Amino acid sequence: MAETGKNIDLAAELLLQGKLVAIPTETVYGLAANALNEKAVLSVFEAKQRPFFDPLIIHLPNIESIVKYAVLEDERLQKLAKAFWPGPLTLLLPKKDSIPGLVTSGLDRVAVRIPNHALTLELLNKINVPLAAPSANPFGYVSPTEPAHVNKQLGTKIDYILDGGACDVGLESTIVGIENDKICVYRLGGLAIEEIEKIVGNIELMINTSSDPKVPGQLKSHYAPKKPLFSGDIKQLLEKNKGKKIAVICFGEENFSKEDHLIFNLSRTKDLGEAAINLFNYLRVADDSDADIVICEELPNEGLGRAINDRLKRASA
Ligand code: TXA
Ligand code: MG
Repeated sequence: MAETGKNIDLAAELLLQGKLVAIPTETVYGLAANALNEKAVLSVFEAKQRPFFDPLIIHLPNIESIVKYAVLEDERLQKLAKAFWPGPLTLLLPKKDSIPGLVTSGLDRVAVRIPNHALTLELLNKINVPLAAPSANPFGYVSPTEPAHVNKQLGTKIDYILDGGACDVGLESTIVGIENDKICVYRLGGLAIEEIEKIVGNIELMINTSSDPKVPGQLKSHYAPKKPLFSGDIKQLLEKNKGKKIAVICFGEENFSKEDHLIFNLSRTKDLGEAAINLFNYLRVADDSDADIVICEELPNEGLGRAINDRLKRASA
């Protein structure tokens, strides 16, 4: 198991030695390495068993530091950066040579994010190098929203877990870039599309569902628990799976027959933010339970509900 604590100096020292440290962010925990150290970045891919064609997001402490690593010149992207950073937004920006090709899988854009978490911002300010950090889970599995999630799956492969408590948002960042001169969302996430459109007007969606996407987070099967998972209408899914022990992840009122099923309510008051915070934790607990299958209610397709439905679709593919 990895040591867990709030020691920023130790985290900084380990990272500068090329070691791996799990870091808290408002979205999910990241598995961080010094982005300028190729050997360290390589060990991120190894620890996660992540394919090299899946590039990493770099994390920075502030907008001013971006200029060393990427080009933030488009006015619309600048507006988004000012409006939502630090926060659950990732921008795809033309990369500079200082960022190793391994980080971007050879692509000419680098994904950049300023996370909104006090401990990690302090760490980023201290080390003065960008941190390449994918979500701290084995490739394809559910992202971690608590230090214990990280320790359980990657504890033997990393050197330290910086403990920033449970994540405030609970869904990965929304990924935005430019495609044919239009603002484009590549991954739905913790920043709702409606919020982005308030700043830059209508956006394009490039939310792939293929097995050969531009952004591997768009892989048809991703964010997935090991048990079979189905999403849709709870009553219909219960009817279809009669006789099985079921973990039910629902939303709002529980007007279905509970029998001896396990019930996890994402938000009794139908609060989508609360649902986002609970989603990945419930998927993990359901996956570790003695249920045969997991069923999950489809949420209203608005605000964070869209990103949650996207994750459920991929988890059930
Ligand atoms: O909220 C988040 O974004 C978390 C926290 C730790 O910051 N990170 C995260 O990283 O979710 P990861 O690696 O699990 O997902 C990043 C996604 C991947 O689907 C990757 O393909 C895409 O971002 N991505 C990264 N760099 C890219 C690039 N240069 N071009 C296109 N897609 C990129
Ligand atoms: Mg991930």
